Amino acid sequence: MCGIIGFTGYIDAKEVLLNGLAELEYRGYDSAGIAVCTERGIETFKNVGKVASLRNEIPAEIQSSCGIGHTRWATHGGVTKTNAHPHSCGKVTLIHNGIIENYHELANELAKEGRIAQSQTDTEVAAMLLDSLYTGDPYAAISEAVKRLTGAYAFCILFADQKDVIYCIRKGSPLVACMAEEGAVIASDMVALLRYSKEYFVLPEYNIAKLTKNSIMVTDLYGNTVTPSMLSVNWDMSAAQKNGFKHYMLKEIHEQPESVRLTIRPRIKRENGFVLPDFSEDKIPDDLFMNAGRIIITACGTAMHAGLVGRILIERMLRIPVTVEIASEFRYADPIMDERSLVIVVSQSGETADTLAALRLAKEKGAKTLAIVNVKGSSISREADYCMYTHAGPEIAVASTKAYTAQLAVFYLIALRFAMAAGKLSDKQVSEYMNELEAVPEKIEKILKKRDVIKELSKRLTPASDLFFIGRGLDYALSCEGSIKLKEITYIHSEAYAAGELKHGTLSLITGGTPVIALGTQKDVFPKLISNVKEVRARGAMVILVTNEANDGDEALEKGICAEHLVIPACKDEFAPFLAAVYLQLIAYYTSSYRGLDVDQPRNLAKSVTVE
Ligand code: AGP
Repeated sequence: MCGIIGFTGYIDAKEVLLNGLAELEYRGYDSAGIAVCTERGIETFKNVGKVASLRNEIPAEIQSSCGIGHTRWATHGGVTKTNAHPHSCGKVTLIHNGIIENYHELANELAKEGRIAQSQTDTEVAAMLLDSLYTGDPYAAISEAVKRLTGAYAFCILFADQKDVIYCIRKGSPLVACMAEEGAVIASDMVALLRYSKEYFVLPEYNIAKLTKNSIMVTDLYGNTVTPSMLSVNWDMSAAQKNGFKHYMLKEIHEQPESVRLTIRPRIKRENGFVLPDFSEDKIPDDLFMNAGRIIITACGTAMHAGLVGRILIERMLRIPVTVEIASEFRYADPIMDERSLVIVVSQSGETADTLAALRLAKEKGAKTLAIVNVKGSSISREADYCMYTHAGPEIAVASTKAYTAQLAVFYLIALRFAMAAGKLSDKQVSEYMNELEAVPEKIEKILKKRDVIKELSKRLTPASDLFFIGRGLDYALSCEGSIKLKEITYIHSEAYAAGELKHGTLSLITGGTPVIALGTQKDVFPKLISNVKEVRARGAMVILVTNEANDGDEALEKGICAEHLVIPACKDEFAPFLAAVYLQLIAYYTSSYRGLDVDQPRNLAKSVTVE
């Protein structure tokens, strides 16, 4: 989604804005622009294309210490210079992240005053509305305008007669801010503030922030001063850089041993010779699960796929029914929930609009809510009753990798903690699982060492137009993740199928040379999976088989059963998804690279989908 940055202070605003937009590029966009306060008034520079080309359009002589910048991910109106932000009307210039749902009726009302939009955007209508309400008091105009807007928004606003001052307000879309020695900075994402400060705050919804070079003043819509709570990040600029890797995605794939370690470490206690899960730092009571009549996991995309693994683990260990719901479906399905329901929402960004809406619906219906989130202080992390952070650090690549395995780690901890509390597993049994969990990072390291094998194998997939993932149980859950990883960055059409389902339709799609990635890490269904491999091979498929070293003695594993055979280091079947996922991530990465695509910012996609 759109990237936003605002700055007013003592250094060159143009540089702050352009650097900030570059740090926000990973969110995905198609055009960019800035507006700066100069001695000539507010000057705007914008165009379609990358931030780098925008930099070339700004005259070197432009001097300013205050401005706003935006990268646009088109929602209303095509990718054109006119539709790029910032948008101006009269004394108002603004940038916006979100969707104004009633912009058509507002545009019609404004047209009666002779105000006609030049662009196709909802944002310009917001600028027109604000200008029509502005009589010299920004607070009055903003307060009145938000009463008439429906939808989600994060605005940074310049008023022509308020030199070097920025006004901001949000609802639904994120805005974080910090006061640094260089001046006041506000942005849609902490990554753009890191260069100036590790201490920041989230602008509360319906609060107005007034940024001057020496201060940030926050007030509610009635003019009462608000003091937002301060947050801090424990990662630095380098964490949000590539550090020598060709792409953020490859770097983040390689960060997984550490991100898994950092996620489990604060949740481990050693007692009486046992290694046990401990949620005291998360302040999560055992009865949160013990009293649960049913558990619903809801999320989008990769986060939802982590939920598919979580469901199997929790049901297997806790024997409580668990369902996984796609958040965009869940929020409109009038789901059956009550105070005995536990809803677990999973989100890397903590800002995904559908997941946030699902969380709010669950709370409305009286369910208890637990969030598994990576970005500290994000909307979902703040609004859920309980939150468990994944400590994966900033994930910049659109394709989620380290956040996924960190989410898995949290689900293993949840399943083990509450199986122990419910007496479903003894401390000894739990400790054995915990030892396996602690051994995961090292096993991921082993797989990462095989990247050259994967790189070579990926050449065989590069020309593919269709590709299928098949698996059973946990392998099917992981197949779903392998499929989205591949298609979102290679643009190869791929599907994940429960291997037993092939005969009910999909087999008709298998022809000579069709690549099929078969996940066979689960001992209990391995012979069945091999039968499915034989079915697709009989139709000419090129099979890549992934197995678990622990099961390699299985007689079903005949010689020559597949074209390529990848083996994950021996582990209990429950932990196979952590390891097999790394193979699938590397396959997607190298295939995309061979196809010469923009691995980190695939077409049409954004890192955080903050609009529905
Ligand atoms: C995953 O690779 C995709 N980028 C996408 O499916 C993503 O997982 C989804 O949009 C959910 O994002 P979230 O975890 O930030 O809520």
